[in-house]
Amino acid sequence: MVGTRIGQWLSLLACIVLLLKAEGYFVEITYVENAVAKGAVCLDGSPPAYHLDKGFGDGINNWLIQIEGGGWCNNATSCLSRKKTRLGSSKQMVKQLAFHGILSNDPQFNPDFYNWNRIKVRYCDGSSFTGDVEEVDSATNLYYRGARVFNAIMEELLAKGMKNAQNAIISGTSAGGLASILHCDRFRSLLPASAKVKCLSDGGYFINVKDVSGAPHIEQFYAQVVATHGSAKNLPASCTSRLSPGMCFFPQYVVSEIRAPIFLLNSPYDSWQIRNILAPAVADPHGLWHSCKLNIKNCSPDQLITMQGFRNDFLKAISVVSDSPLVGMFIDSCYVHAQIGKWLRNDSPLLANTTIAQAVGDWYYERKPFKQIDCAYPCNPTCHNRVYGPNDNPEV
Ligand SMILES: *[C@@H]1O[C@H](CO)[C@@H](O)[C@H](O)[C@H]1NC(C)=O
Ligand SMILES: *[C@@H]1O[C@H](CO)[C@@H](O)[C@H](O)[C@H]1NC(C)=O
Repeated sequence: MVGTRIGQWLSLLACIVLLLKAEGYFVEITYVENAVAKGAVCLDGSPPAYHLDKGFGDGINNWLIQIEGGGWCNNATSCLSRKKTRLGSSKQMVKQLAFHGILSNDPQFNPDFYNWNRIKVRYCDGSSFTGDVEEVDSATNLYYRGARVFNAIMEELLAKGMKNAQNAIISGTSAGGLASILHCDRFRSLLPASAKVKCLSDGGYFINVKDVSGAPHIEQFYAQVVATHGSAKNLPASCTSRLSPGMCFFPQYVVSEIRAPIFLLNSPYDSWQIRNILAPAVADPHGLWHSCKLNIKNCSPDQLITMQGFRNDFLKAISVVSDSPLVGMFIDSCYVHAQIGKWLRNDSPLLANTTIAQAVGDWYYERKPFKQIDCAYPCNPTCHNRVYGPNDNPEV
């Protein structure tokens, strides 16, 4: 009796595993051991890491890099708290990662890039790969070396064949999306001039606005990130020559100087930005925004007005590149953050009846330009708005 029941459970489990396998599959981690000698290390001094699934068929000279996200640490205390997590140490990373969406090797799920070399770069520096402080912090033994990590990983991929790339994309999500903006032209410069190289930011366009209490929370936070990690010298010089380095962590002050074509996938109601830039806990001591931040359906009329104001600020911040023919945009009005994992019909929001996968593919291959800005919330019925649990805590 018990035996049969266990058998039933096992076959159910097998079915679930098969179902999961259909969409995602696992790719082994690669540690960049020789980076340690160059001082290109995670916060705890461990080697950086990535996952590579090799290209095949006519995709062997095409390379797609996706940079993992995970916020930032702005001082020794917050960086120290990452040291024993995957965001600060490759020792804590899982050894296999599921590849799906833009990383899938199946044309059914990834029609345009399935046979490219696809790489997920792991995030373990806390500075969107911009940091470079020579001395190791003696109080904490922390290494602030994100920019060196980026360079070491690129060197290894170039040696593995990326130096012969014909097509390439540097992309990333959240803090990784910001990294793909900040490193866009540097990545371009590493590849052959004849290659078609483009950059894609998913949920990486963080804007500089005051929070609901009127304080410049995110501006101060980014200034601390840049100061802690010694990032200034690795931010675009065209920006740091006119603004303070912390400002040059914001895409809106650097993006118009980027020469490679770039695609911005972002909601102007980006749920991370609403939760951490517009209404961070420090700006909302009475928790008036708490339930609205968990679920946009709970927001009061006044809160929605404030969020429409945030959308206006976001649209202003991207307007610096809205005339550029090289720039693609998928600016939907969903309460979400990070959307590239769900990009096919049924999961993807639609703009002009187009999925994210189609829009990105059309823009990359220049089948047709794609630059769409959605109508204001709640106009788009194809949104799957994010609902957070009370314990989901993405606060910076
Ligand atoms: C470090 O930053 C965190 C926010 O990330 C803040 O709560 C904390 O007070 C800061 N610590 C110091 C010592 O400034
Ligand atoms: C939307 O796109 C789908 C698939 O590309 C197509 O079948 C459908 O007819 C389109 N609908 C409209 C209203 O254009």
